Amino acid sequence: MTALHHSAGIVHSARTVAGLLLADLPERWRHTAGVARQAAKVSRAASPADVDYLLAAAWLHDVGYAPSLRGFGFHPLDGARYLRAHGWPSRISSLVAHHSEALTVAEVRGLGSELAAFPRERSAASDALTFADQTVGPGGRIMSVDERLADMLRRHGPDSPNAAVHPPRAAQIRAAARRVKHRLAAEALPARYAPEAEGPLLFPVTANAVPGARSEIRAAADVSHLRTGDPDCGDRDEFADQR
Ligand SMILES: [Fe+2]
Repeated sequence: MTALHHSAGIVHSARTVAGLLLADLPERWRHTAGVARQAAKVSRAASPADVDYLLAAAWLHDVGYAPSLRGFGFHPLDGARYLRAHGWPSRISSLVAHHSEALTVAEVRGLGSELAAFPRERSAASDALTFADQTVGPGGRIMSVDERLADMLRRHGPDSPNAAVHPPRAAQIRAAARRVKHRLAAEALPARYAPEAEGPLLFPVTANAVPGARSEIRAAADVSHLRTGDPDCGDRDEFADQR
């Protein structure tokens, strides 16, 4: 079995686990699916070796909103802690922890040290994840970064932690978006990240992750039937005609 088959299994498993965890949050699920599609659209901005990490993180980035995962009440942290506890590669839990400049909000909420326990990755893949999240609205509608930031401020309110850190956070998000657009325009694909040793990519991610869902998750983790162009997984080939 090739590494590509394994990594396609990661994306498929991520989609399945996100779907199960967000089953009672339809608007969050529509947003998540939109972010995954958007991540696939801009995946050319990331190193080819990083695309499956990007897509898996896109599916999983908001699982921390699931009521069953609530711990600190801060979804990037709750989601990352869940993923780490259930054996996902540390790179994916870290991408989830830090998506959309979460550390700025975590610090004002007094959760900076907890979030900083997850290594921060600064890469084309992390930029692409932030770009995807910040160009898809709560219900899945595509919007500009400025529209998304304004909508976020409106929803969280003027006294929220998000509002308190908005200027520096928005500047960092806009910078990430500019980098993604620049990379897409240049079609430069530098390999900027050397994956750490993670062991086998087909991992028992979720055997105990979702009560009552063992059979579905094991089926999702069985990659023997998958191919790298599986469109249901947000594979980059799905969007080949939209580049
Ligand atoms: Fe999101």
